[in-house]
Amino acid sequence: MNYLSLLKEAVAPKSNKNQPPIIKDTNARKLDKNLQVDFKRLFDEQLKDNAKYSIKYGGEPVGRHFLKTALMMAVPGLFYIKDDSLLGFLLLLKTGERIKIIHFFVDPKYRSQGVGTALMKKAFKTSKKEGGKRIELDVWENNKNAQALYSKHGFKRMLNTMSKKI
Ligand SMILES: CC(C)(COP(=O)(O)OP(=O)(O)OC[C@H]1O[C@@H](n2cnc3c(N)ncnc32)[C@H](O)[C@@H]1OP(=O)(O)O)[C@@H](O)C(=O)NCCC(=O)NCCS
Repeated sequence: MNYLSLLKEAVAPKSNKNQPPIIKDTNARKLDKNLQVDFKRLFDEQLKDNAKYSIKYGGEPVGRHFLKTALMMAVPGLFYIKDDSLLGFLLLLKTGERIKIIHFFVDPKYRSQGVGTALMKKAFKTSKKEGGKRIELDVWENNKNAQALYSKHGFKRMLNTMSKKI
């Protein structure tokens, strides 16, 4: 390498653009500080999703508080990162052989591009590696997009959640 190209390399800004995506098995508190996450927008978006699906069944849109707490408490999860941005994630409650996905969210800007599928597949892999035998989640009855994804990956309905306003 000659002197000029060495100089060019030193001057060129280091860029993480156009890197292949990575899925990090970690928790929100351990995420790289440089990661670009607009948590305010993300919480607003997730609140909208939650309200859209839950309101019909009398559920209160408490998703924002739930998600904030889960992230602050460093619940483990899988975080899909591309070019220093967080595109989506799922949080996993590991209780022995039964693993529960307690939150699954893809930034609306990046939906229907395979991010959810990649996270789901990775969840199967890591859960199995850690001794998991069954993976579970709750989904609102009218959230047909998410249900289509789950059915495609072999999830079957096992439980009816009963709810009563008090
Ligand atoms: C559900 C969610 C996580 C899926 O993530 P995603 O990155 O959009 O998923 P993918 O691109 O991998 O899509 C996988 C499958 O999901 C279904 N799907 C996703 N978006 C859809 C849409 N807009 N309309 C219909 N089906 C859709 C399809 O079956 C799709 O398969 P296909 O691409 O072969 O048609 C995402 O839409 C999301 O964050 N939704 C709001 C929050 C939510 O509902 N979370 C789940 C709570 S249980």
